[in-house]
Amino acid sequence: MAEMAELRIDGKTYELPIIEGSEGERAIDISKLRNQSGVITLDPGYANTGSCMSSITFIDGDKGILRYRGIPIEEVADHSTFLEVAYLLVYGSLPTADNLANITESITLHTMLHEDFKRFFGALPKDAHPMAACSAAVGALSTFYPDCLDPRDPRQVEIAVHRLIAKLPTMAAYAYKHSIGQPMMYPRNELDYVGNFLYMLFGTPCDEYEVDPVIRNALDLLLILHADHEQNCSASTVRLVGSSMVNLFSAISSGIQALWGPSHGGANQEVIEMLASIRDQGISAREFVERAKAGDDTARLMGFGHRVYKNFDPRMKIIKGACREVLDKLGARTRLLEIAVELEEIALSDEYFVSRKLYPNVDFYSGVIYNAIGIPSNMFTAMFAIGRLPGWIAQWMELHGDSNFKIGRPRQIYTGPTETHYTPIKDR
Ligand code: SDX
Repeated sequence: MAEMAELRIDGKTYELPIIEGSEGERAIDISKLRNQSGVITLDPGYANTGSCMSSITFIDGDKGILRYRGIPIEEVADHSTFLEVAYLLVYGSLPTADNLANITESITLHTMLHEDFKRFFGALPKDAHPMAACSAAVGALSTFYPDCLDPRDPRQVEIAVHRLIAKLPTMAAYAYKHSIGQPMMYPRNELDYVGNFLYMLFGTPCDEYEVDPVIRNALDLLLILHADHEQNCSASTVRLVGSSMVNLFSAISSGIQALWGPSHGGANQEVIEMLASIRDQGISAREFVERAKAGDDTARLMGFGHRVYKNFDPRMKIIKGACREVLDKLGARTRLLEIAVELEEIALSDEYFVSRKLYPNVDFYSGVIYNAIGIPSNMFTAMFAIGRLPGWIAQWMELHGDSNFKIGRPRQIYTGPTETHYTPIKDR
């Protein structure tokens, strides 16, 4: 028998079941509250409200724990590859060698875009942000592939999933090439997933392009670290849009737009621009932190703070470690990393940040690596989207597999005018 919570309203007591997750988290199930009591709950930003039961990713924000299907992010980062992590998140367990070979082959053979996408990207302004371009292109996939739009047909879902994971890097590379006036490069089937992306980004028809293993491995790690993160803003967007029964491409296109926001995935671009601004203004890290504390909107410490982590973001620790290694191997030590380290040291000992439990998050150091690799800052969030894609897909599939599936439709508390009447314009 479930433990019950009691709620007293107007002298009447309502009993609500308490449910417990596999990690001991507890929730009051309010799914029958309005029918029983006529009242609803209110929780702007959903900081206290669970939208679903999920078995994909677990975060303990106080202990700085992150696990994909139960496996600690540190182990996944040390031993896995991005495509293996994509399989783990989407299908629920680590792949066998055959599983991995099959999904790798399928994705490799779907990396090419329909030729009309060259005109699609070519029609965009040169300075189109890659996130706008990728969201539009992903949404347009439903027009090119009407054969895989039914969210309830497993065969159609499978092909849509493989097409998405395969084609998003090609789209991001096309958006980049268009912005710099270079030819869009066709994918190469002999290259692996990350190597192919680097080739499409930096290769040209004029020269052979050699994938640098240091860069390739750094990118593979960054994609792994961004792969999923529970019910964050963009994952919740994919679920809400997906709950209308629209096709997967449309739901993912919405998730890309949500991720673009500077409070969410867009922060990695904001961080590098913040570090470059501190460097170019010649101000000290301490001076910038003081501005951030003063609430100067132009000086928010981007890459710091998190809705869930009130301790270190475990992903940040791994990325920070990789930063030094990659920059040293590339001989690309920049002032930006030093400024980031100074900001972190100052903030972590400053009462303003300590009292608010503001720690560096995944976005704080990732841009330093992207920058050292030669990826332009407006492509950073597109990198985040490529990494987060398997997580969005896994969340969308879990939504459609949920026996309690229903369209997402929050209630509200109305605060507008009570009944009034139409006033003809002559009397206004
Ligand atoms: C991601 O949800 C996820 O899991 C997201 C993500 C994922 O993998 O999907 O982890 C990826 O989005 C990471 C977060 C990237 N965003 C940033 O780095 C932008 C800077 N951070 C903030 O905007 C903020 O910390 C949020 C949006 C991330 C979290 O917002 P919260 O939890 O709602 O915190 P808050 O805005 O209520 O802030 C609490 C206090 C406030 O001060 P007071 O009103 O109490 O005086 O802390 C302050 C804020 O002003 N604060 C900051 C700050 N972040 C919060 N002050 C200075 N610099 C900051 N970065």
